[in-house]
Amino acid sequence: MPIISPSLLSCDFANIQSEVEMINASDADWFHVDVMDGSFVPNLSFGLPTVKAVSKHAKKPLDVHLMIVEPDKYITHFADAGANYLTVHYEACNHLHRTIQAIKDAGMKAGVALNPHTPVSVLSEILADLDLVLIMSVNPGFGGQTFIKAAIEKVSRLKKLIQDKGSNALIEVDGGVNLQTGAELLAAGADALVAGSFVFKADDPKKTIKDLKAL
Ligand code: DX5
Ligand code: ZN
Repeated sequence: MPIISPSLLSCDFANIQSEVEMINASDADWFHVDVMDGSFVPNLSFGLPTVKAVSKHAKKPLDVHLMIVEPDKYITHFADAGANYLTVHYEACNHLHRTIQAIKDAGMKAGVALNPHTPVSVLSEILADLDLVLIMSVNPGFGGQTFIKAAIEKVSRLKKLIQDKGSNALIEVDGGVNLQTGAELLAAGADALVAGSFVFKADDPKKTIKDLKAL
């Protein structure tokens, strides 16, 4: 069964507690929390106080996706705010190995996200140290974008690389996930699916999560 991580980016922020409680009561496994800085991506979302507020009510792990430059500055702050998985972008890190060790030293699981243009091969020397790889199937920054189909083959290539390197990293995919793209990604070897607009814009978000979980 896939890990389902609904992205709060598309939730009703004026009612965030009830959105969090909906996820608590659903078949979802994690909370996907998108932090944007207006510099790494051309959009702003929310920061540490919101992550802390979500964490206060969340009964499932927080899967925090940092779309920010210089993530090293904030690692311990996100640990204190309640993050369980902390994912940084490969494209934002000059010293990725050091960043990954710092995430682990802070007591969190470490993830690396790859933009659509970044090949999976850049992770070959560090895969054994990772708990998660996040394949972006849209350009990061916004919910509701069209799925980039090349992500499916990228997942297959990453799966093979993970096996070759004896890594335990989970493969998560983010962007344009619905029942159809989700099924194709799982067939290619994905372990975890992020879904934002597909869940929160649905008439029945809980049922939509259940349907994704049943893929
Ligand atoms: C985009 C974010 C995603 C976003 C996905 O930069 O990383 O997590 O919420 O939204 P959908 O599922 O609507 O493509
Ligand atoms: Zn995300």
